[in-house]
Amino acid sequence: SSADQPFRTAYHFQPPKHWINDPNGPMIYKGLYHLFYQYNPKGAVWGNIVWAHSTSKDLVNWTPHKPAIYPSQPADIKGCWSGSATILPDGKPVILYTGINPEEQQVQNIAFPKDLSDPYLVEWVKSPKNPLMAPTASNKINASSFRDPTTGWLGPDGMWRVIIGSKRRRKGMAILYRSKDFIHWEKAKRPLHSAKKTGMWECPDFFPVSTSGHVGLDTSASGPHVKHVLKVSLDDTKKEYYTIGTYNPTKDVYVPTKGSIEFDSGLRYDYGKFYASKTFFDSDKKRRVLWGWINESSTRDNDIKKGWAGVQAIPRTIWLHKSGKQLVQWPVTEIEKLRTGQVDMCNKLLKKGTKLEVSGLTASQADVEVSFEVGKLDKAEKFDPGWTNAQDLCTEKVATVKGGIGPFGLKTLASEGLEEYTAIFFRIFKGKDKFVVLMCSDQSRSSLDNSNDKTNYGVFLDVDPAKEKLSLRTLIDHSIVESFGGEGKGCITARVYPKLATRDGAHLYAFNNGCQDVHISNLTAWSMKKAQLN
Ligand code: FRU
Repeated sequence: SSADQPFRTAYHFQPPKHWINDPNGPMIYKGLYHLFYQYNPKGAVWGNIVWAHSTSKDLVNWTPHKPAIYPSQPADIKGCWSGSATILPDGKPVILYTGINPEEQQVQNIAFPKDLSDPYLVEWVKSPKNPLMAPTASNKINASSFRDPTTGWLGPDGMWRVIIGSKRRRKGMAILYRSKDFIHWEKAKRPLHSAKKTGMWECPDFFPVSTSGHVGLDTSASGPHVKHVLKVSLDDTKKEYYTIGTYNPTKDVYVPTKGSIEFDSGLRYDYGKFYASKTFFDSDKKRRVLWGWINESSTRDNDIKKGWAGVQAIPRTIWLHKSGKQLVQWPVTEIEKLRTGQVDMCNKLLKKGTKLEVSGLTASQADVEVSFEVGKLDKAEKFDPGWTNAQDLCTEKVATVKGGIGPFGLKTLASEGLEEYTAIFFRIFKGKDKFVVLMCSDQSRSSLDNSNDKTNYGVFLDVDPAKEKLSLRTLIDHSIVESFGGEGKGCITARVYPKLATRDGAHLYAFNNGCQDVHISNLTAWSMKKAQLN
């Protein structure tokens, strides 16, 4: 019952019970969205991994099906790990996934829908030719670090390409394979990309983005108005990094121009809990959609007690910012149909040192959009150039630490007496030749229960506070606070387990702990209806 399950989600994807991790093989087929995901059918900890399967008409309400892919062949008898779907030119979907063989080696397998006239594609058939790609004595592939094939893309030579995450010693890499028929695959001499000292690259993703506008591109698209994105998930730190670059499909060379996988200053989709993500091209709505796993901040013991672990983030439309310097993300618009009971605040003064309750809404299950106008910027504190790491700065300067301009923002999942809250806020500093905007998600007071991971998160936002409003959108869902700053330029997702601020005990505040008043130019908040979740 909800009485002893205050942390289950109302609109973030999760199954009724047990462990989940990576989103797998997302796709749209005949107008229906499919999501597969790593799932333990036997418990709330990782193990016994199969591909669970759900479908949806709107990316919001989900119907569960039986597991689509589960151990049944020597090539996957010890586990069916992550992988991707590809829609072939004739419109038929195929799945490539990693199987664990009896020798515990990681190999790549293929599966086809058994009956293409079944819109739910419930039954999947594996090829007797599996595995299609495997470590051998001569190909130097590390058999315990060879997994998570991407969606395939077609080169100008008519050959398919996929990459697979790997490492050699500490060097992470995306091994490239080519095929004429999607069955017979040959390893390329050079990986598509690699980086020293990064460890295993899990769940690589490689896709084109348009240099103009929000429209998404088919994974095989290339040409003059196209850039490519390579994303990898680093096993060592459980952080994802992406780079934006140029891909030459004739030579199969990818050269990143922005971002880096080696350094902690690299670009990330999400600066909080968000891992093993994967995009797909939505050919119906012409957008690229990102799915990501929000891993736990609770202990293994608590997961076993509550009987479940892990959720999926709200699917996000993703595109290249017009600066070309970063990606931008926004929750798919369909999620807005869950909004109800709108609450508005307009042109409200948020005086220094005060807070303002946003009442009249279900604060444990809400969608909040707010924009702030700061006015004069002369009270901004000086930015120390030594502050290179936003997360460290957010950990040093939590919401209670008074600033010049800011901290101002939201206190979500807050108890009435503010014993508990998760604060998402901004601080503005004066740098050498520009203002620096810091966005933080402060979990340090998120729960009176100290067993949870309460790490704080942060990101520097590429926004000019002298010219632009500072905006924040936050999706609150019982134990999830998923935030989008600067209209999707900086995203931070947190998992929190409050003791007091659950259900009706949860409140929402706007706050300003700086030395200057700020204006809320607009705040609109909605209670969220419950989605149909499996
Ligand atoms: C990432 C990952 C993948 C692997 C899967 C196993 O979270 O470790 O590399 O395929 O999970 O469940």
